[in-house]
Amino acid sequence: MEFIVWNKVLIFLLFHFPGLTHSSEQNNGGWGLDSSLVDEGSCNIDIRDAATITHTQFLQEYAYTKPVILRGVTDNTKFQFLCSKLNMLRDYRDKTVRLSTANTHSYRKVDVRFEEYVTSLLTPQSEDTLGSDTLYFFGDNNFTEWHSLFENYNAPPYSLPHTSPAYSFGIAGPGTGVPFHWHGPGYSEVIYGRKRWFLYPPDQAPEFHPNHTTLSWITHSYPNLEEHKTPLECTIRPGEVLYFPDRWWHATLNLDTSVFISTFLG
Ligand SMILES: *[C@@H]1O[C@H](CO)[C@@H](O)[C@H](O)[C@H]1NC(C)=O
Ligand SMILES: *[C@@H]1O[C@H](CO)[C@@H](O)[C@H](O)[C@H]1NC(C)=O
Repeated sequence: MEFIVWNKVLIFLLFHFPGLTHSSEQNNGGWGLDSSLVDEGSCNIDIRDAATITHTQFLQEYAYTKPVILRGVTDNTKFQFLCSKLNMLRDYRDKTVRLSTANTHSYRKVDVRFEEYVTSLLTPQSEDTLGSDTLYFFGDNNFTEWHSLFENYNAPPYSLPHTSPAYSFGIAGPGTGVPFHWHGPGYSEVIYGRKRWFLYPPDQAPEFHPNHTTLSWITHSYPNLEEHKTPLECTIRPGEVLYFPDRWWHATLNLDTSVFISTFLG
């Protein structure tokens, strides 16, 4: 009985003051920061605070023309709490998750128990492994099983006319990420960890091998890019949302073990 009461007090405290679990480190939800990558790169994408941009300005300045990072547009404190490692293992341990290979066309799919993914497969990307041989959890979510989690997510508020939102949720180790590809417009945010982004306009297709990882591209191709072929780039953190317009090329690199969610506007 006493245990149960204290348990509730503790949950209350952690929920309302997540800072209690980490004194100096950023809050990582227990997902770990070890073997994080250090290079956040530079940022040449516009960053706009919620207070400095309206929905109309978003539509006029960015929606159809260029990426933007929106800061502080939603409060996802509760969703972040529910996405801690402990909470996710408690709620989803025995559920099956579908993993995809990290190449441009994502061919191979493998089903594993969520707990097995977290304990054995959620590892740092090694540089010499092909994207086509790297499996991780992004998208392919069973919306029936994950509904009670996703209903707590506050999606970015600025909609695009004639589109409806669809979520894609994932968890991945440091050094993982999707290589260059494109699709319709959308938003992406990290709930834990940092994610580095690289983007090119639709008419400036980057050079890359579809089966190589972003980590391999950043090590071998990125340093040799001519000035006029360098991408738009930025590293985003929890509390920031990156918007990418229709058909923009993009690749991502998770710098830490990351929990992330995208909202595709289709
Ligand atoms: C999603 O989960 C439900 C409930 O566990 C299950 O019945 C259904 O077959 C799953 N759907 C897919 C596409 O795996
Ligand atoms: C990429 O990998 C897939 C699956 O292993 C293979 O079928 C395809 O031919 C490869 N593509 C290239 C360009 O090497």
